[in-house]
Amino acid sequence: MTFTDKLSVLYSRDEIASKIKLLAQDIKRDYRDKNPILISILKGSFIFMADLVRELDFPLEVEFVRFSSYGKGKKSSGKIEVIQGVTFEVENRHVLIIDDIVDSGLTCKFLKDILIEKKAASVKVCALSSKPSQHTVPVDIDYSGLIVPDKFVVGYGLDFNQKFRNLPDICLLEENK
Ligand code: PRP
Repeated sequence: MTFTDKLSVLYSRDEIASKIKLLAQDIKRDYRDKNPILISILKGSFIFMADLVRELDFPLEVEFVRFSSYGKGKKSSGKIEVIQGVTFEVENRHVLIIDDIVDSGLTCKFLKDILIEKKAASVKVCALSSKPSQHTVPVDIDYSGLIVPDKFVVGYGLDFNQKFRNLPDICLLEENK
């Protein structure tokens, strides 16, 4: 792909696909008979969600919320804007949060707290990637994928100023000065 910014592959599409197969094995073991609701946090997790559910061969439902906290910069504002919230029923349902990256942990914690308050039967988190050095709130990632260093990453759904989501690999981004 032709982007003018400097990109280097951190995790290739094949590495991502292998990791998703492993995550799916664990999720299959734990949710096969639970008819869970998988809740994808948009926009970032749209590709991960689509790839993950196609590895799961049991009845499940999908739902979507859309939160935003990064705005135009590379740092979280710390304030989560709810663009589309939890408008569906979760009471007594087993729910699994699907996120592309856990950075500060605020987004996942925010959604988890809402789901617990709405009396979900269980709430767990599946994150394709995580930046452990940046967690500012404790988040239990029940199904954890790739570890990302303290650098800005894009691709496979992740953006910088809405760009790069369509890259098939997860890449480190260094902007041109
Ligand atoms: C990103 C990412 C996660 C969240 C993680 O979303 O997709 O959902 O931030 O950050 P946190 O752990 O520090 O809360 P963003 O707010 O950039 O919105 P987007 O998914 O629409 O790009």
